[in-house]
Amino acid sequence: MTEPAIERVLFTEDQIDARIREVAAGISAKYTGRELKLIGVLKGSIFFLTALARHITVPVKIDLLAISSFGKGAPGVVRIAKDLDDTIEGEDVLLVEDIVDTGLTTRYLLQTLSSRRPRSLGLCTLLDRTIRRLIQVQVDFRCFEIPDRFVVGFGLDYKQLYRNLTYIAVLKRDN
Ligand code: IMP
Repeated sequence: MTEPAIERVLFTEDQIDARIREVAAGISAKYTGRELKLIGVLKGSIFFLTALARHITVPVKIDLLAISSFGKGAPGVVRIAKDLDDTIEGEDVLLVEDIVDTGLTTRYLLQTLSSRRPRSLGLCTLLDRTIRRLIQVQVDFRCFEIPDRFVVGFGLDYKQLYRNLTYIAVLKRDN
């Protein structure tokens, strides 16, 4: 059963699970013999982060940050509303995002994290909407490329709703 507000399902729970396992295997291979710190961005990436972390086979640490944006008038202008608990200096760090859209938020986060001198800094995203990209960001791992439609589920929200959907779906346009 899907929600009435849903137009169509893009990825089912099983498809998401299978793809996350593949991406986690790629991450485990890349960081073999190392310890990895996953950094999640509240609130959107927590569902992805926990699912991903469970399938990574190298030792993993987790930290979280929250950002707030300055509203629609200033897209991509964000600030850190809750910072990481610990330093990342000298560590292998993987930023875990729910979606890279224009790339503005991700660039801000990567620049901020990079200034803290991690040993390495990578980017893993659940969804990638390259068609709307305004600035270049290097995506090291991604689960799915998506079309130019607003999506919800598996952590992604519309007005804070639908994060808990087990699937990823396109929202009806009249919402
Ligand atoms: P960017 O700065 O344009 O890359 O957008 C990043 C943020 O916008 C994401 O972390 C999401 O919180 C939000 N966002 C962008 N597209 C969607 C979507 O289709 N559904 C839900 N949130 C989205």
